Amino acid sequence: MNIVVLAAGLGKRMASPRPKLLHPLGGKPLLEHVIGAAKALEPDRLVIVAGHGADQLRLAIADATLLWVEQAQQLGTGDAVRCALPALGDDEVTLVMNGDVPLIRPATLAALVAASAGERLALLTVVLDDATGYGRIIRNEAGAIEKIVEHKDATGKELDVREINTGIMAIPTRRLADWIRRLDNHNAQSEYYLTDIFAFARADGVDVVSIATDRIAETLGVNNQLQLVQLERLLQRSRAEALLEQGVMLADANRIDIRGTLACGEQVAIDVNCIFEGDSRLGDRVTIGAHCILRNVDIDEGAVIEPYSYLEGAKIGAHARIGPYARIRPGTTVGIEAHIGNFVEVKNSDIGAQSKANHLSYVGDATVGARVNIGAGTITCNYDGANKHRTLIGDDVHIGSDVQLVAPVSIADGATVGAGTTVWKDVKADALVVNPKTQVADATWRRPRKKS
Ligand code: UD1
Ligand code: CA
Repeated sequence: MNIVVLAAGLGKRMASPRPKLLHPLGGKPLLEHVIGAAKALEPDRLVIVAGHGADQLRLAIADATLLWVEQAQQLGTGDAVRCALPALGDDEVTLVMNGDVPLIRPATLAALVAASAGERLALLTVVLDDATGYGRIIRNEAGAIEKIVEHKDATGKELDVREINTGIMAIPTRRLADWIRRLDNHNAQSEYYLTDIFAFARADGVDVVSIATDRIAETLGVNNQLQLVQLERLLQRSRAEALLEQGVMLADANRIDIRGTLACGEQVAIDVNCIFEGDSRLGDRVTIGAHCILRNVDIDEGAVIEPYSYLEGAKIGAHARIGPYARIRPGTTVGIEAHIGNFVEVKNSDIGAQSKANHLSYVGDATVGARVNIGAGTITCNYDGANKHRTLIGDDVHIGSDVQLVAPVSIADGATVGAGTTVWKDVKADALVVNPKTQVADATWRRPRKKS
């Protein structure tokens, strides 16, 4: 089977410098959704017709299995398919898809291909309440499709038809080149309409069949920003419902955004307004508080992420507690039952089991052992202005408040660092380290007063 994806349009109505099909839906470009659905059918050839922003598309989609063809001028959908002809094999069926209809399901495509069987011209149609802008399906008394009339060419009763062309059709390949050759552009838009092949099929005695879908979302196209956000909401709602079906406890099915994939174990609870990006996994009984952003994280069972936390590229151990207001950056692992509290930033660090950094700290490029306490305001000074250095902290180390650890530095097991200490030399096991300071109390001192 050949599949042709039409993706050369300008997308002027998006009012955006970015090519329309690179706008993201559910975290990935529109065109990637369409390609994903097409690939599920395992076509022999998958041809993408590109024009506007072709280089950007090719770069962003980077997929060596795709055959790209160029449509230099956007002369219409029929002309776009003409550009694809040299890239097609003589397989029985050629499936044509619109690059801007992202939620189409593989099962629907497969049904369309089966309906064609390389013999019939098969079209996916849908009945819309408002058919404005779409090509209308014109049927005869017997109910057979006579032709498709574009909105701008439709007159009188044709405009009342609410059954429309989704743009997705399965065509007998051996007929295609002849039909494309016969297209003209004598119409309201002076374009070569692919839809005119329906009248040709009729004239040539080729059966025309249609499949209707009642899942309107899979037929909806993206032509402007409003339609894009409407589809985003539909997609997010269906992702939320899939999680709910699986037993995930969402506080609100309308207030979660999954811009990638989210795998959940049993009894996972997610409060409102959380955003998941990339690919993340939440183990059994994980709880995510309100307003968290999680990107490419792997969270083990029973861990609790408190509200307003932002985690990226991290692995969180079982029963750990993160936040509220914590920031966990890439390259971080947090051990079993460890606690990372409010206004604590952790970057590229390993935090051992049961260790705690509960308040106002920066832990970067550090290896922290088990059962370590990191006091409020502790900072790893990991950057000397040119290079990053590591801080090594052993097991059972106790670090007081407001401590600077000037890397590279290591603190061996069981050591204690007094409050307000700057540590720039290695500390031996079980030692106490402090920077001697004196406290001055002057009983005669008086606070200055304002002159009257
Ligand atoms: C098209 C159909 C219309 C259908 C609607 C469904 C035609 C003539 N009309 O209209 O019947 O109801 O889709 O969404 O086919 N494209 C190219 N090259 C071109 C023109 C378009 O590659 O020269 C691509 C576009 O990038 C887009 C697709 O073809 O992915 C559809 O083009 P668009 O201009 O959006 O067609 P519509 O007017 O929506
Ligand atoms: Ca369109």
